[in-house]
Amino acid sequence: MQEGQELNIGAVRDSFRESLANARTLQDLDELRVKFTSKKGELTLLLRSLGKLPQDQRKTAGQELNTLRDEIESQLEQTSKKIRDSQNEQQEINEKIDVTLPEKGRSVGAFHPVIQTMHEIANIMQGLGYSVATGPEKEEEFYNFECLNVPSWHPARDMQDTFYFQDGTLLRTHTSPVQVRSMLKYGAPLRIICPGKVYRRDNDTTHSPMFNQMEGLLIDKNVPFSVMKGTMSEMLNAFFGRSLRYRFRASYFPFTEPSMELDIECVECSGHDEHCRVCHGTGWLEVVGMGMVHPNVIRAGKIDPEVYNGFAFGIGLDRMAMLKYGISDLRLLFDGNVSYFLSGFEEAK
Ligand code: DAH
Repeated sequence: MQEGQELNIGAVRDSFRESLANARTLQDLDELRVKFTSKKGELTLLLRSLGKLPQDQRKTAGQELNTLRDEIESQLEQTSKKIRDSQNEQQEINEKIDVTLPEKGRSVGAFHPVIQTMHEIANIMQGLGYSVATGPEKEEEFYNFECLNVPSWHPARDMQDTFYFQDGTLLRTHTSPVQVRSMLKYGAPLRIICPGKVYRRDNDTTHSPMFNQMEGLLIDKNVPFSVMKGTMSEMLNAFFGRSLRYRFRASYFPFTEPSMELDIECVECSGHDEHCRVCHGTGWLEVVGMGMVHPNVIRAGKIDPEVYNGFAFGIGLDRMAMLKYGISDLRLLFDGNVSYFLSGFEEAK
């Protein structure tokens, strides 16, 4: 071994100190440990070559190397402790719970606008002495069509319009089948409403294959036409919270005679805006189908049409909800978007 061997010790020391100063992570320290103290580490190699030194130099070189080894080991240990301490500290800061933070807030559920509409109209009608009746959504052809005087050739019976099951039953296309079901169940006199889901093979921007209707039926002795008109205007004024103008138009439904459609003044523009997005400038909105119950229907309900008569109406609840709450797209009603839509409607007072 020549001179300069001692210089080598100094170089390893300098290299260690420099590397240590740059070490940031525990992994960096591991790498240093390998670089200097593993079997082929720089310090180990120096220690191994001690024996090759001339006798007189071994002692001092040995001492120097021992000092360096101590320094390397203690520095690695201390730095590793420092890194671990600061990691723990950081973790504590991250995981600390700040009990003074305000709570995230709790969201409160709300009724869907269609359900709200259903409740509101049902309340109004219950105030007029009507009870709520129900019927099945999977219905028999007899109740949905036949007993409602809808002849077999009627286009509504077409597969195009109606969802049929294999067994000949169907998804009710309107709430009207509850009329005869209720007459058979309760007899006369009778005042019922029936809210519920109905289904048709329709799906576009203004039609959904499932939608909501409310049926109404009054059967009594000597029911005049005017009671129907009065009941309808009473119901709609109460629902919209003001006195509206009405227009009764002659129409046709197989289960009523005579049949009418009821238009209300446009709730958006009252007929003053020729570009109104709701009434498209007509000033009128068609909201209810109705009429005096056809004698055949009363007969199907096992009630004598010579003694009893009455009126019936059908109202689209989705459309009513849209008009009342200013919802412009029918599809919004059915896509279940809670944050954007459902929670946005205050329950009616
Ligand atoms: N069932 C009809 C429909 O779905 C609505 C209707 C019209 C119901 C007149 C009635 C009525 O009770 O009298 O279009």
